[in-house]
Amino acid sequence: MRIVIGNDHAGPKLKEVLKEHLITKDVEVIDLGVREGEKIDYPLIAKKVAEYVMANKADLGVLICGTGIGVSISANKVKGIRAACVSDPYSAKLSRQHNDANILCIGARVVGDELAKMILDEFIEASFLGDRHQRRVDIIKAIENEEV
Ligand code: RB5
Repeated sequence: MRIVIGNDHAGPKLKEVLKEHLITKDVEVIDLGVREGEKIDYPLIAKKVAEYVMANKADLGVLICGTGIGVSISANKVKGIRAACVSDPYSAKLSRQHNDANILCIGARVVGDELAKMILDEFIEASFLGDRHQRRVDIIKAIENEEV
């Protein structure tokens, strides 16, 4: 599995924790985020990671900012992205199973390291269940394609 990860200046520490965790699970990690001491406005890193996922260069994405909210709002502006801002393992699992989320967003100032690892594990281990959930995701896609 290939995971692309990105973060703004609120997230370098948690990003490193999650990268290390993924590497121990033999996951290929592509890091597009900033390092400690560097700064980036969260919509820019969210766009970068979202486009990486949509180009099929990674299977799933992970975005980290202070709350997870800024990166999730931004990533969801990219067509085809279903970014879930999550702070508990149950929602992480359901975001894959029901919503076919393709990016996990975590708030580094909200979620502690150990909880973040559990959230990430649920996200990468769960699979989309399809069936009635597919119909609902198709409605999301149709909304996305509507002219406003
Ligand atoms: C940056 O200070 C902070 O605003 C950002 O990381 C994020 O929390 C925005 O949603």
